[in-house]
Amino acid sequence: MTAAITRESRPRILTGDTPTGSLHLGHWVGSVKRRVSLQDSHDCYFIIANVHAYTTRLQKSAEIKRDTIEIVRDYLAMGIDPERATIFVQSEIPAIAELTFLFAMLIPFNRVMRNPTLKTEIELKGLGDTYSFGFPLYAVGQTADILAFRPTGVPVGEDQVPHLEMTREVARRFNHIFCGVDEHTEDKDHVAQGGVFPVPHADVGEVGRLLGVDGTNKMSKSLGNAIFISDPPKEVEKKVKKIFTGRASATEPGDTKNALFQYVRTFITDKARVAELEDKYTRGDNIGDGHIKLEVAEAINVLLAPMRERRAAFEGRDDLVLEILREGTARANRTAEATLALAKDRMHLISWPRSLG
Ligand code: TRP
Repeated sequence: MTAAITRESRPRILTGDTPTGSLHLGHWVGSVKRRVSLQDSHDCYFIIANVHAYTTRLQKSAEIKRDTIEIVRDYLAMGIDPERATIFVQSEIPAIAELTFLFAMLIPFNRVMRNPTLKTEIELKGLGDTYSFGFPLYAVGQTADILAFRPTGVPVGEDQVPHLEMTREVARRFNHIFCGVDEHTEDKDHVAQGGVFPVPHADVGEVGRLLGVDGTNKMSKSLGNAIFISDPPKEVEKKVKKIFTGRASATEPGDTKNALFQYVRTFITDKARVAELEDKYTRGDNIGDGHIKLEVAEAINVLLAPMRERRAAFEGRDDLVLEILREGTARANRTAEATLALAKDRMHLISWPRSLG
């Protein structure tokens, strides 16, 4: 109907997550909030990169499956609307696997190994030199995740920018070698010059890093300092109370650069109240951390209330969640198959029409 026509005529974006567990407030602030607002203006594709999870959690495949379903449930709770956006699972898009192999021919091996995001991950996860071949391959795979959908923008965090740079190189190279696009063509002109792939830009959101309730590290499930979207109100209160500030009393002047005030500024929507709290805190004007924490917890619970309500419809209903994922994946396959057919044609691969989705 008309909704579908409008959706397809909008600028297309693609982004997604590797399933590593339930989503928390850090995900909301850092990316999902933005995705929810892009649903009205863009043709949105959200990929659950479950194959990427196998690069480091091969022994935990049952968990990856559970996390995949959980992440979709969290998306739905947070307001991603399957009527307006396409949520899909990577492993059921054969075009992505095929393009990964083909694109691997367009990137020098050493270029992949110099990717700073891969290097950081090898270090942080202590992968040493025993990681699988599939581990660095995931970076090539990510270029395929993106280009299979020919988006113009990819909303991501700072850490994903190196992957986007590689994606842009693949797009330029493909368009040059197989579509006759001149090497000096500006990125924005590639499609007009006959390229199959737009050269997509990384669209880095303004909020980066929400601190965890330990008050020092970035919010992360593995550090045990996260407030989950699915936490009940009492749990939120309990966790907010833990935020460490090191302040001794209500009359001690406090530093509004601390974690507690990051929460105040992020979650209390009444800006006049935020300014007032900052002022009193800085002066140590009889305002205790305990009181501020209650206001923060209350604000977070106001944010989470509609999410809890939407989530309730999908609680214990994996069947509903999987049905949404199946429909999104079918739609995603139609788009990705069309891209693959174009790419194969330009590459002079022998191929025949086939249909999926
Ligand atoms: N690597 C991303 C992450 O860990 C997830 C991801 C996979 C992705 N494929 C993508 C993000 C394509 C954007 C576009 O967060």
